[in-house]
Amino acid sequence: MSSQLAPVTLGDLQRPVRARLERVPLELQRIVAADFGLIAEVNAHLFQMQGKLFRPTLLLLAEEAAGVRDVRSITLAAVIELIHLATLVHDDSVDHSVLRRGMPTINSLFSHQVSVIMGDYLYSRAVIELVGLDDLEPLRVLSRVTNEMTVGEMRQLLAHEPLEFSEQSYDLLIQAKTASLLSGACEVGALRAAPPARRALRRFGGALGMAFQIVDDVLDYTGDPSVTGKPTGSDLREHKVTLPLIAALPRMDPAGRRQVDVLMASAEPEDALIEEVIAAVGEAGGLEYARERALLLAQQADAELEVLPPSPARDALRASITYVVDRRR
Ligand code: IPE
Ligand code: IPE
Ligand code: MG
Ligand code: MG
Repeated sequence: MSSQLAPVTLGDLQRPVRARLERVPLELQRIVAADFGLIAEVNAHLFQMQGKLFRPTLLLLAEEAAGVRDVRSITLAAVIELIHLATLVHDDSVDHSVLRRGMPTINSLFSHQVSVIMGDYLYSRAVIELVGLDDLEPLRVLSRVTNEMTVGEMRQLLAHEPLEFSEQSYDLLIQAKTASLLSGACEVGALRAAPPARRALRRFGGALGMAFQIVDDVLDYTGDPSVTGKPTGSDLREHKVTLPLIAALPRMDPAGRRQVDVLMASAEPEDALIEEVIAAVGEAGGLEYARERALLLAQQADAELEVLPPSPARDALRASITYVVDRRR
């Protein structure tokens, strides 16, 4: 984006936890295994989809940076990815999305009914696994976070009136639907750390998570679907108001605003109209504003890492901030 540092790849920041991270997908498969045909079929499809494993990465790095290795951390890392996966299955159904991780979504390949049930299946498997650990602490964090995410998704459902949706409401929305889980990943990694480190890592994940969602919302305008694995322009198509539009509207000329009005009034906006609005938002500085906001949050995240002792894991957490603001995927 506009950082002066060398580009950071996902592989770079995953290096300190690589060996343990590689065990996470298998652990996840163990947790969701089903002997019921349709569920096994959906599971098989989900396992072909390659995500970034960003939340498990944060959990393992936070643990390492706080210096508190825990034998349960592979399971906890799998559980956090599973909660993420369950929310994606529901989110794609709610958003009528057809592409995820470069593959057809569950709602497009199966049905919305299957998505609703599978999201619940995956989430309840995560809860069973947590209960099996016989420790209330991770359950306390993750049940709160999951509940927050549902409120965030509900806020999202109502965020379709550009003139009535403020940046403040947007902040509440992204905090709930996205930052809560990244914050929870960092906090669960640091459950056994001293309270100041645990709190700092929780806040680190919160600020990073907000930046993560802002960048996702920018990528929805400008991303390359062959890289993101998701369609471009889908937020506008779904009339979802995100930061680039919120920031652009007051600076748009009357013609640009009229295009936004037409788009919002159209049940199925044409691709050409979506492209025009994307261009108008860019010209009015909406994308630039969102990027600047992500960089400010990145600085906040960075400051939280000061309380941790220097280590390769702390460096990787720092690198994850650069990764988030610069990512194309
Ligand atoms: C997508 O998350 C959902 C958001 C919070 C924007 P990711 O971008 O981490 O998706 P995967 O797991 O890598 O596919
Ligand atoms: C994030 O919002 C979704 C969740 C936190 C579940 P989006 O709807 O923007 O995520 P994508 O773009 O579909 O991945
Ligand atoms: Mg979505
Ligand atoms: Mg998105």
